[in-house]
Amino acid sequence: MHLNIYLRMHKVLVLNQVIGVDIDKKKIKAISQGILPFLEEGVLALLERNLNKDFTLGTNDQLSSCDAVFITVGTLLSDKLLPDHSAVVEVVEDIAPRLKDGSLIVLRSTVEPKTTRKIFKLIKKKTTKDIHLVYAPERIAEGFAVKELYELPQIIGSFDDISFDKASEIFSLFVSQVIKTDPLTAELAKLTLNTYRYARFALANELMMIANHHGKDIYDVLKIANKDYIRGGIPSPGFAAGPCLVKDSFFIRHNTPYNDVIYGSYLINDRLPEYIVSELNKRTKLKNQKIALLGLTFKKNVDDTRGSLSMKLYDLLEKKSKSVSVHDPYVAKGELKKVLKNADVIIISVNHDEYTNLTSEGIKHMVGNKVLICDMWNVLGKGQIFFDL
Ligand SMILES: NC(=O)c1ccc[n+]([C@@H]2O[C@H](COP(=O)([O-])OP(=O)(O)OC[C@H]3O[C@@H](n4cnc5c(N)ncnc54)[C@H](O)[C@@H]3O)[C@@H](O)[C@H]2O)c1
Repeated sequence: MHLNIYLRMHKVLVLNQVIGVDIDKKKIKAISQGILPFLEEGVLALLERNLNKDFTLGTNDQLSSCDAVFITVGTLLSDKLLPDHSAVVEVVEDIAPRLKDGSLIVLRSTVEPKTTRKIFKLIKKKTTKDIHLVYAPERIAEGFAVKELYELPQIIGSFDDISFDKASEIFSLFVSQVIKTDPLTAELAKLTLNTYRYARFALANELMMIANHHGKDIYDVLKIANKDYIRGGIPSPGFAAGPCLVKDSFFIRHNTPYNDVIYGSYLINDRLPEYIVSELNKRTKLKNQKIALLGLTFKKNVDDTRGSLSMKLYDLLEKKSKSVSVHDPYVAKGELKKVLKNADVIIISVNHDEYTNLTSEGIKHMVGNKVLICDMWNVLGKGQIFFDL
C-alpha cells in the first residue's frame, strides 16, 4: 500500500492507490490539471509526482472496491454559532450502502463530541454489511500539512479492536506514533487542544488591552514578565481566528454548562478589530485618513482568508476611514510600495514572512509623510503596537 501523497481534499483510499473525490467541480478540474486550488507547502510536488499514478480522481461509484474511506469534508459553524455536520452526514448516507463487507471508514473531519457515535448508528441504519469505523482527527496546522502528517502522533478512537487495528495498519505506514483510545476521547482531545490555544490567545489579547489602558505597551510588560522566568512563556497578542480555532471552541462547548471562558475568549478575540479601530481613532481622526492594511489572511504565510479577522478589520476600516488600500502577498498581489505611498495609517495585521524585511526606515522612505503605525505582531521590532513614524 502506498500512501505517499497527502491532499487536504482527498476523500477515498483504496489499496495501492488513493482516489480523491470532491463535489466541487472547480477543484477537481484544477487538480486534474495539476493545479492546486490552495497553497500548502510540499503538496504540489506530491501531486505532480503522483497524479494519475498512485493518486487519481474518481467518484463515489468506485467505493465498492475500497478497503478504507477517509472522510475529510468540511464541518462548519452556523451563523448562530452552532455545529453544522451536515456534509459528514450526507457523505455517510451516500457511501455506507456502497461499501463492501469489512471495509473501514476513517472519520477525519473535526466534529463535536459524540458525533462518531451518531455516525456509527447511521451506518448501521444504512447498511447491514460489516463496516468498521474510527475517529482519527486531522491535527495538522494549515501550511505544515506534509511535514506534520508524518510527525504528529495520530489519535485513533475506535469502538472495537478490529477497527483500531485496520486504521492503525494504514496510519502506521506514515505516522511516527498512533494513540489508541475511544471515539469520544479522540473527539474531545482534538477540540480541547484548539480550544486551549484559542483561550490562551484571548488572554494574551486581553492583557494587551489592559496594558494599553494603563498607558504601557504589552511587549515591554512581556519582556519583563517572561525574562528568565521558568513559568513565563506568555504569548504575544495577535489575531486568533480562522477556519478551526473558533469552530472547534464552539463545538466543544455546545450543549454543556461549562463554557464561560470559551465564550469570553470568543468575545475578546472576535472584537479585536473593533478595538484596533477605536484605539486608532483615539490617536487620529480615521475618517480623514488613508489606510494601508498589510495582510488579509487568517494567519501568516497561507492564502486562506476563511474566518480572517484582518478581513473583518478591512470591512470596518472601509466604513470608518477615508480609504483603504490592501496588500497581501498571497491574496491581493500588488506593489507594496504603491499601497504604502501616501498612507496616513499603516496597519500590519498579518506577520507574513514577506513583511519581516520591512523596517521603520524603509517604510518612512516609501510613504513619504508622517504616518501612524499599528504593528499587531511587532514585525518592525519596535516593541510597540501603536506608534508614530
Ligand atoms: N485545513 C486544515 O488545515 C485542517 C486542519 C485540521 C482539521 N481540519 C478539519 O478537516 C475538515 C476539512 O477541512 P478543510 O479545511 O479541508 O475544509 P474545506 O472546506 O477546504 O474542504 C472540504 C471539502 O469537502 C468537499 N465536500 C463537501 N461535501 C462533500 C461530499 N458530499 N462529497 C465529497 N466532497 C465533499 C468540499 O467541496 C471541499 O472541497 C474540517 O472538519 C476541518 O475542521 C482541517
